[in-house]
Amino acid sequence: MGPETSDTMDARRDGFTEPGPVGRMLLALFAWVDERFRLRNYADEFRHFYYQINLELPRTHTEKYNLRVIWYWYPLYTLGSIAFLAFIFAAISGILLTFYYVPSTAEATVNGVQATEAWESMTVIMTEVPLGFGIRALHFWSGMVMVWAVVLHMFRVYFTQAYKKPRELNWLLGVVLFLLTMGLGYTGYILPWSQLSYWAAIIGLEMSIATPILGQYLAGLLFGGVELGQQTITRMYVLHVILLPLLTFGAAVLHVVIVWWQGIAEPH
Ligand code: HEM
Repeated sequence: MGPETSDTMDARRDGFTEPGPVGRMLLALFAWVDERFRLRNYADEFRHFYYQINLELPRTHTEKYNLRVIWYWYPLYTLGSIAFLAFIFAAISGILLTFYYVPSTAEATVNGVQATEAWESMTVIMTEVPLGFGIRALHFWSGMVMVWAVVLHMFRVYFTQAYKKPRELNWLLGVVLFLLTMGLGYTGYILPWSQLSYWAAIIGLEMSIATPILGQYLAGLLFGGVELGQQTITRMYVLHVILLPLLTFGAAVLHVVIVWWQGIAEPH
């Protein structure tokens, strides 16, 4: 090691080490982009935001009471996050399915049997599209996990009385999320236009028509009329792949932000 100069002393004091060739290249690249887009300003703001968040984050129950054991009910506090994760998996696999799925009741023949283009596209996904079977399975199972996680999460919140003041509004937002999740499940069930789908659609249609006063209007709005047809599948498709996912995502993000603001309810 050579003698310590004022330069190396400065560097040591400032915690600065000379970058290697790759580091110098990255710095030059950053400087080039920074000159044009002023990235440094955003980076500073982002760093500020990051520290702000860390300072404001509530302490966990374990930290607050200096607990040495993991309370055995804690896994139940992961159910909301599991629901969110399952939603993300369903959204990604769902986007892949839309590349091949055809929302049409036009007639098609599948294996010599009269069916619809929707059902035909399902058989193509299951038998011809590379990994199609797996992606459909992933979509189905992430949907199932989401529904069960949401239901169990609701039970957890209920039995720990976490819906009480000041969390009443987040509980109500949770009810909206529950309905949106059920809506996603139902509209997705109709899309393959299988026998199960068809009869589930009939039940929904009959229930809509039976609604007092609003019956005809509701059937028209949700199913495209008082009989099943192309309009039914178009509406279920738009609800399932655009409207409900966007609403669910927005409501779930708001829900989690509120949990973060208010802190998690203390288990007692
Ligand atoms: C897509 C659906 C949902 C997602 C992604 C979600 C997500 C979350 C997450 C991540 C938490 C943090 C604590 C935990 O996970 O236990 C939470 C807390 C909470 N959730 Fe949900 N949730 C959903 C549905 C619901 C439903 C259906 C209800 C009730 C009707 C609800 C009511 C609440 C309440 C009141 C809290 C605060 C609990 C506390 O502070 O201990 N959520 N949610």
